[in-house]
Amino acid sequence: MSSFKPLVFSGVQPTGNLHLGNYLGAIRRFVQLQDSHDCIYCVVDLHAITVWQDPAELLRATREVTAAFLAAGIDARKNIVFNQSRVVQHAELAWIFNCVARMGWLSRMTQFKEKAGKDRENASVGLFAYPNLMAADILVYRATHVPVGDDQKQHLELARDIAQKFNNDYSERIAELGAGVEMMVGEERVNGFFPLTEPLIEGPAPRVMSLRDGSKKMSKSDASDLSRINLTDDAETISRKIRKAKTDPEGLPSEAEGLKGRPEAENLVVLYAALAETSKESVLDEFGGRQFSEFKPALADLAVEKLAPVAGEMRRISADQAYVDSVLRDGGERAGVRAESTMKVVREIVGLLGG
Ligand code: TRP
Repeated sequence: MSSFKPLVFSGVQPTGNLHLGNYLGAIRRFVQLQDSHDCIYCVVDLHAITVWQDPAELLRATREVTAAFLAAGIDARKNIVFNQSRVVQHAELAWIFNCVARMGWLSRMTQFKEKAGKDRENASVGLFAYPNLMAADILVYRATHVPVGDDQKQHLELARDIAQKFNNDYSERIAELGAGVEMMVGEERVNGFFPLTEPLIEGPAPRVMSLRDGSKKMSKSDASDLSRINLTDDAETISRKIRKAKTDPEGLPSEAEGLKGRPEAENLVVLYAALAETSKESVLDEFGGRQFSEFKPALADLAVEKLAPVAGEMRRISADQAYVDSVLRDGGERAGVRAESTMKVVREIVGLLGG
């Protein structure tokens, strides 16, 4: 039984500044996956413009995300790094998926409801159709695995629904053209053109919260810069932000249980564990019973040790814009060849003249 070749695809939006949450939750995992998988990492500029972006800022952020990928250790020669818009097949397949996905499916997406808020009439059509473009990103390479955080799981399920409906709607044509690949869907053996892509969850990705409010996610859009550690912060700034992080008057508990109802304390322990690549329990084994006045400097040292080299590399790489652009151009060319070979068949399957 032939099957889909394992391939990892993931994307990061070029909006705002990259912060520690993006690094620990996504980019660091992208780096680790290179050892075991063929990977394609994409700076999703077309996703960014589903809400207004200043053009100059979009260009800056696209290059910054690329520099962060490279600084963190993504190998753009072995794998592919590029920006989404230059491979036009993403947008083309997204249109076809606009015609496969149902209004009802997209209406259920919680991210749309959150982002559109009360003023849904005024949200862009792109924001509504966003998950179809995400499905196209993945499926234009027939990628089998996607590392995603919790907030993107629903979108990945939608990509599976789209793949399944496409495979089903066009099953005769796929068989006629011999374009399908055998796969198991539940108990059933089917012949489909698109894989049902799986999420890749290797251990729970740490949920990194705001340093000012432990109940909110660390976010690039938070008005307070003290709420987050940016990937470009220098050692001094990192230490200051951690020193100023909100905590409560108690010391650290010896058991994870003792962090219940103390979101700020929990967040700092989660951060320490994530940076040290260990568990909350082992952090508390070491620091249980101590005060934040002792723990914070230890956390600051660790954060500086782990992040300063990445920030330094980012600055070095960013200074060479021609190099960053050449990485994206080269990645785009290689991605484009793969995407076009998928689209040739998709056009034939759907019945679009022009090959
Ligand atoms: N929607 C993702 C996010 O906001 C970004 C993204 C776009 C993505 N296309 C993707 C992630 C494909 C994984 C696979 O984080």
